[in-house]
Amino acid sequence: MDTVRTFTEPSHALALSPRLFFYQQPQAQEDVLGELLQGLRQTPRAIAPKFFYDATGAALFDRITLTPEYYPTRLERQIFSTHGAEIARAVGTERVLIEPGSGSSEKVGLLLNDLKPCAYVPVEITETHLLTASRKLVEEYPWLEVHAVCTDYSDGIEVPPEVPAGRRLLFFPGSTIGNFEPAQARLFLAQLHKACGKQGSLLIGVDLRKDTATLNAAYNDGDGITARFNLNVLEHINRLADGDFSTDNFRHLAFFNETASRVEMHLESCCQQTVSLASETLSLRAGERIHTENSYKYTVEGFQALAADAGFKPRQTWLDPSGWFSVHLLDARSL
Ligand code: AVJ
Repeated sequence: MDTVRTFTEPSHALALSPRLFFYQQPQAQEDVLGELLQGLRQTPRAIAPKFFYDATGAALFDRITLTPEYYPTRLERQIFSTHGAEIARAVGTERVLIEPGSGSSEKVGLLLNDLKPCAYVPVEITETHLLTASRKLVEEYPWLEVHAVCTDYSDGIEVPPEVPAGRRLLFFPGSTIGNFEPAQARLFLAQLHKACGKQGSLLIGVDLRKDTATLNAAYNDGDGITARFNLNVLEHINRLADGDFSTDNFRHLAFFNETASRVEMHLESCCQQTVSLASETLSLRAGERIHTENSYKYTVEGFQALAADAGFKPRQTWLDPSGWFSVHLLDARSL
C-alpha cells in the first residue's frame, strides 16, 4: 500500500471560475535541504536539476528555448502544431488530461482544441505558475474544467478524487524524461503507467541522439544564456540554504558524453575555494566540478524499449522533419 497523502479541500481558486479547482499537497522543507546537502557532500558533487528552477532559472530556461542553438522546444512545438489533429485522432477526445510538471502549461495549449479533454489536471510545484496558467486556460477555453494540483510530482502522481472519471492521457513533454538516469526513468515511467489507470495512454516528448556538434552547441549557446542558467543554480541554493557561493568562481561546462549518450552540465571551480552552506563548509579544488544535469538522448527504439519495461506499448511516434526530436503515444498495458 502506498503512503496515503491528503489533499486540501478543493477550492474555487479566487472564485475566478466555477471550472477551476485548486488542490495542495504540502511537502516538508527539510527533505529539500537534506537532499541538496547530501548531493553536495558526495564525490563527485552534484546538484539535482530541479534546483535550476527558481523564478530567475525558469525565466532563463524560457530564454534558452529562444536561442537558435537550443532546438528541442522549437521542434517539439512544431510537431504538436503540425500533427495536433492526427495526435487527437489517435488519442481520442474527452480524455482526462494530466500533466506532471506543467509549468506555465504552454505546450498543452497547442493540443487542447484538437484533444477536447473533459478535464485538464496540471500538477506543478510552483504555485504562482500553476495558478496563473490555470486561470488563463479556463478563460481561454470556456468549455474546459481545470483541476490544478500544487505538489512535487517526483513524489508520485496522485489525482484528487474530485477529478472526473474517464480514460486518462498523461502528458509529459519537453524531454524532461532525459533528466533521469535510465533506471530512474524506468521507475518514473512506471509511475506514469500507474497514473494512467485503465485504458490510459501517455504522450511524451523525447529528444533524440544526434551528432555531437549539434548537441554541444545546444547546451553552449553563443549568448551564454545556458551558462547563466547553469550558474544561477548557485544563487538559488544560496537563498535556500543560506550559502555564499560566488558565481564568479565557477564556469559553465556542457558536453555530450557519447558513451553514456547524455549531455552533461557541470559547474567547474575556477580556484581552490571554501564555500559555506547551511552550517557546513565545502572545500573545492581548482578544476573540481559540481555535476548539475544529465540530459539523456535516446533513439526511438531505445526509448520504446525503456517504456515497454514500464508497461507501455508504443502506438504512434511523430518526428520533426530533421528527425531530431520525437513525440510518442504509448498505451498503458494492463499488468
Ligand atoms: C528541460 C530538462 C529538457 O535537458 O535540455 C536546457 C534543460 N538544460 N539547457 C534539457 C536544459 C540546459 C532541458 N530540459
